[in-house]
Amino acid sequence: MPELNLPFLGHGGDYNPDQWLDRPDILKEDIRLMKLAGCNLMSVGIFAWAALEPEEGRYEFDWLESVLDDLHANGISVFLATPSGARPAWMSQKYPEVLRVRSDGLRNFHGNRHNHCYTSPVYRGFVQKINRALAERFGHHPAVKGWHISNEFSGDCHCELCQAAFRDFLKTRYGTLDALNHAWWTSFWSKTYTDWNQLRGPSTAGEFAIQGLKVAWQRFMTHQTTDFIRAEAAPIREVTPELPVTTNLMMLFDGLDYYELAKELDFASFDNYPDWGAPDEEWTALKSAFNYDWMRSLKQKPFALMESTPSQVNWHDVCKLKKPGMHLLSSLQAVAQGADTVQYFQWRKSRGAAEKFHGAVVGHSGHEHTRVFRDVRDVGEALEKLAGIRGAMPDVRVALVYDVNNRWGLQFCEGPRRDKKYVETLLEHYRALKRLGLAVDVIDETCDFNKYKLIAAPMLYMLRPGAAERLDAFVENGGALVCTCLTGRVDEDDLCFLGGFPGPLRRTLGIWAEETDALYDDEQNGIRMDGKEYACGTMCDLIHAETAEVLGTYARDFYAGQPCVTANRLGAGTAYYIASRPGADFLDDFYAAVTAQAGLETTPLPAGVQLARRGDFLFAMNFSGAPARVDLPRGTDALTGAPAGGETELPVNGIKVIRE
Ligand code: GLA
Ligand code: ZN
Repeated sequence: MPELNLPFLGHGGDYNPDQWLDRPDILKEDIRLMKLAGCNLMSVGIFAWAALEPEEGRYEFDWLESVLDDLHANGISVFLATPSGARPAWMSQKYPEVLRVRSDGLRNFHGNRHNHCYTSPVYRGFVQKINRALAERFGHHPAVKGWHISNEFSGDCHCELCQAAFRDFLKTRYGTLDALNHAWWTSFWSKTYTDWNQLRGPSTAGEFAIQGLKVAWQRFMTHQTTDFIRAEAAPIREVTPELPVTTNLMMLFDGLDYYELAKELDFASFDNYPDWGAPDEEWTALKSAFNYDWMRSLKQKPFALMESTPSQVNWHDVCKLKKPGMHLLSSLQAVAQGADTVQYFQWRKSRGAAEKFHGAVVGHSGHEHTRVFRDVRDVGEALEKLAGIRGAMPDVRVALVYDVNNRWGLQFCEGPRRDKKYVETLLEHYRALKRLGLAVDVIDETCDFNKYKLIAAPMLYMLRPGAAERLDAFVENGGALVCTCLTGRVDEDDLCFLGGFPGPLRRTLGIWAEETDALYDDEQNGIRMDGKEYACGTMCDLIHAETAEVLGTYARDFYAGQPCVTANRLGAGTAYYIASRPGADFLDDFYAAVTAQAGLETTPLPAGVQLARRGDFLFAMNFSGAPARVDLPRGTDALTGAPAGGETELPVNGIKVIRE
């Protein structure tokens, strides 16, 4: 498998020379500025189809060749993009089947981007043709170090071609209509299918009440998108088998199963746009860290930070500027957790259209005498000093299970509460682990559990085949497992487990969850444990401890005194159940105890301070909004060369990188 194998940490961004072809002076200036900013890696041509193929079959590649030549002559490498993220107007006009159809059956007009059918043979044909032409012309250009396939895959299409592909997908998956009808429980409301042609994707204008169908459609989207990616990449892989292929993935994205999609990629790439400067900076930093841990875990390899903004975005409700220090801190946060590149959207602000006020290295003023440019140059310098980190991975013993299939199941599930707060809950558990200075992988139910000592799997409502058995074995073999309310309700088709929840994890957890109460947002119960009382809310499972020991009980309501927190010793390990959604104070205390019990080494940190180790580099990062003190191991400051470590004061937005 070709690897992301750059001889440096990449620094650069999305570069759109196709917007400035009538301004050779600007293209020339770009090169000067890139070198000044310490940029060595540009992603070129992401939305350039109209410039590359202005009319059907007429390729205009000379401009791209001259851009690649200039970049290369100046020591700048390139991820070359395939242009399929947006298509030229002539194509939609002549071949409307390339456009998406909405779930109500209406076909979109030409416009926007990411608005194409993944099934259409016409679209696939155009994509393959131009990709082959690009690969043949530029695949061996010395500037080109990898392929950036399309852009941020997302969305679905309900055209008749996609419906037919969906039926094929279902036939492969279920074999017979009987099996499908059983898996989707279609005897409910007389929904039994008697002919494959009766099946369509879920639609608010049609079938919307079969959760099995909705989950199957989500999986089909992943299937069809990855099939499209395979088709996109085929000519490229044929012409340049040595070049790695990637596509850029999105924050906490739930439209596709990234664990499936990542199988098509040689390395993962990520676009990160946290709301830096929002009221709870610790939370923003945690979301960002969680995503990085997810990206690294997808392939258990370093990834590319393909996009981030050097200053502000233009699409948050309120677009804050990055405060002094934040650009370096947030960029190195990615490196700390496994990124081998720091890239931006975008190199230069476009002059018009939707993203003209999105942050960029070069603004409309066009020169380098700006705060943002200086910030970017500082990151360039830091990345040069950290080059020795390339390829290194952290040593991780703790995993958090974020399974997108489970998220779909929870989203579609009617009751006991519309918003189950799944993502918030995940991040709350993650926060407690990060506050202990632990390295965390973000895995799904199909990943290998063996290397971990502790697995936190909050709200694992949907258990995919084999997951419960493997979690059980994990505990038997000495692991610590943490589950919470709503665990083990349904199988992968959303059929409830019979015989008592948490279904196949009942023996592992040693409890039976008889009922689940839902609470209003401002309503709370409490957990009495170790002489303290902690608040909890959202949902409360009413559980019976079967073989588990009761550690904490509910404080209020008609189930006061009943178990809320339990521990079940099984084989050499322990499976914990938290039957509700407690706050940070509980989770901090709970994980301090559980990690100690599991023999994990922790470094308790002040709130908002993050620690990450990668190879022999240790990063201490202060997102707390106030100066912070931490005790760090001794070594050399990787950014200044001075001796470092011991009691260390981190200023607001401060970072210390110590090479041990
Ligand atoms: C996404 C896209 C980019 C750009 C940025 C703006 O990540 O991939 O093309 O639109 O958002 O933040
Ligand atoms: Zn379609």
